[in-house]
Amino acid sequence: MALTAAGFCEGRRVLLCVTGGIAAYKTPELVRRLVKAGCEVEVILTRAAEKFVAPLALSTLSGRRVWREEDLLSEEHGFEIPHIRLAEWAETVAVAPCTANTAAVLAQGRADGLTGAVFLAARVPVVIFPAMNTHMLEHPATQENLKTLAGRGARIVEPAAGALACGEAGRGRMPEPEEIAEEIFRALTPQDMEGLHVLVTAGPTREYLDPVRFISNPSTGRMGLAMARGAWRRGAEVRVVLGPVDPPCSLYGFEVLPAVSALEMRDAVMSSLPWAQIIVKAAAVGDYRAKKRAERKVKREGREEVSIELVQNPDIAAEVGRAKRPDQILIGFAAETDDLLRNARSKLERKGLDAILVNDVLASGSGFASETNTLRLIGRSGEDESFSGLKEDVARSVWDSLAGRGLFPRC
Ligand SMILES: Cc1cc2nc3c(=O)[nH]c(=O)nc-3n(C[C@H](O)[C@H](O)[C@H](O)COP(=O)(O)O)c2cc1C
Repeated sequence: MALTAAGFCEGRRVLLCVTGGIAAYKTPELVRRLVKAGCEVEVILTRAAEKFVAPLALSTLSGRRVWREEDLLSEEHGFEIPHIRLAEWAETVAVAPCTANTAAVLAQGRADGLTGAVFLAARVPVVIFPAMNTHMLEHPATQENLKTLAGRGARIVEPAAGALACGEAGRGRMPEPEEIAEEIFRALTPQDMEGLHVLVTAGPTREYLDPVRFISNPSTGRMGLAMARGAWRRGAEVRVVLGPVDPPCSLYGFEVLPAVSALEMRDAVMSSLPWAQIIVKAAAVGDYRAKKRAERKVKREGREEVSIELVQNPDIAAEVGRAKRPDQILIGFAAETDDLLRNARSKLERKGLDAILVNDVLASGSGFASETNTLRLIGRSGEDESFSGLKEDVARSVWDSLAGRGLFPRC
């Protein structure tokens, strides 16, 4: 069994440049998240940034000293040549928040401070998170600078719209630490799915019997969303058809199409089918729905027993299997309670899947509502591989395995 590696960010090296915008107050939380994920984090603060966030908070959370602009030319650190050492050390550089001023410094290629000098010396993916007042952001000078930086290969993460610290509302907000961390994890991941369109279904469906009662299952969507996250981190564009759940994790970066019933989920999947190159069917779709849904709440008075007539829902995976183009890859999930392999292999054949992931939902630490999972991946030629661990780690290993089998379509 291929046990998944603990914490894919273990020992990954992130250089975080914090500049002097009000959003700098969010950076201690960002550092905490990165460190929790296993990253090593070095922080550079501009002089202005020191006015907005305490260096001591950042050094405490990163467990390392904090670098300052003047360290570029300090006698104390000069022997280390900090800008070269940091640039060579880092696996990714993030500028969060990036002020209008720092965007100008970086676009001009100035090296009169540590941030600018490191930026020029670094040969790794750079992610920039502009955050400022809307007018500053929309000014042609700032837009030109950001365009220049994007043209030179930096990833510019569009600031969100919302209430800004200056009292105005508009575009310019820095994303939340969880979202910035996701962008950094993506920058640390080889982009072997760059540009691929991945459609994932996740979560349960609900089949309403009357306006207040439904038949459903305990799916939380965690495994499907972990597959979606894994593909997104590898550079894919991800669309998620999501059943009715309180999402157990961030949906950042996904296009989400909500669907409640199996019929709604079928419609959402089929209308996205021409767009998708890889389809992952991880939702726990109800097999049956009420033949007749009551318009009004069914009262208990005078009814000792009730029977519900159920009719079969469409088999979405089979429908996709029949409709898909030869260049599309279909990956299914099977939640089984017995005869796992035989049932999974027959499902693979019957539904025209390219691979199936089967889990024993009765096993402890596996299946519905669990943070961990044990899955077997079965391909068309019968090959079979097992993965166990946190769902996020299992999903990453599954993508690794699919990539290794040459299953990704060409963009
Ligand atoms: C209260 C306050 C908040 C500020 N917030 C921002 C901001 O969110 N974004 C920005 O680009 N500049 C902001 N500025 C202006 C920068 O701090 C200023 O341009 C500074 O020179 C940036 O230096 P740095 O890029 O070296 O960090 C703010 C200034 C003040 C006084």
